[in-house]
Amino acid sequence: MSTTYEPLPFPLETERLTLRPWAESDAPEFCALLSERGRGTPPVERIRTSIAEFLAETERTGIALLPVQRREEGDFIGYCGLIVGRTTLEEPEIAYELFRRVHGRGYATEAAGAVIEAAAATGRKRLWSTVGTWNTPSLRVLEKLGFERDRLSTEENGEVAWLTRSLP
Ligand SMILES: CC(C)(COP(=O)(O)OP(=O)(O)OC[C@H]1O[C@@H](n2cnc3c(N)ncnc32)[C@H](O)[C@@H]1OP(=O)(O)O)[C@@H](O)C(=O)NCCC(=O)NCCS
Repeated sequence: MSTTYEPLPFPLETERLTLRPWAESDAPEFCALLSERGRGTPPVERIRTSIAEFLAETERTGIALLPVQRREEGDFIGYCGLIVGRTTLEEPEIAYELFRRVHGRGYATEAAGAVIEAAAATGRKRLWSTVGTWNTPSLRVLEKLGFERDRLSTEENGEVAWLTRSLP
């Protein structure tokens, strides 16, 4: 039996941030963000295609990763949203990634807080996140948002913590 959920409502506004749909013009900045993973810079053409795929996927699933833009500066600082990832469309994962230059200012927590609220508005009852156990900042963000550890798994790249949070 499948349950249907409302599409994730967006744009989302917080005190300092807007979470909005992807535009093709985000491609260069998105490339720069991905290059911070330290495995080179993907070709901008490939990222344009990824953006088109994100938009099509959102049409199909009603969930999305959303570009995070600072309201005052108007700049793209990363993304935050929901993905199926290692879980399900019914109980998706929250995910985020921000430029290093803006870390440590509470932006991930602020953006993810808005995504949690929006996820609840779709009718969903539970979210997950899977995070490398080495990733202290990400684990801290989840802790601040009320996620609790469910279990650990071991993958090729190391140990993964599975955290979950029920929605009001
Ligand atoms: C995870 C990430 C999005 C956090 O973004 P952020 O905007 O810096 O997060 P916030 O400022 O909201 O919160 C970070 C928290 O981690 C803490 N923190 C950061 N580095 C830390 C460290 N090395 N040890 C302990 N705590 C740390 C911060 O102090 C803060 O907690 P506090 O509010 O209690 O002080 C950012 O680090 C990132 O983009 N990382 C790369 C991508 C990634 O790992 N994504 C998650 C994949 S699961």
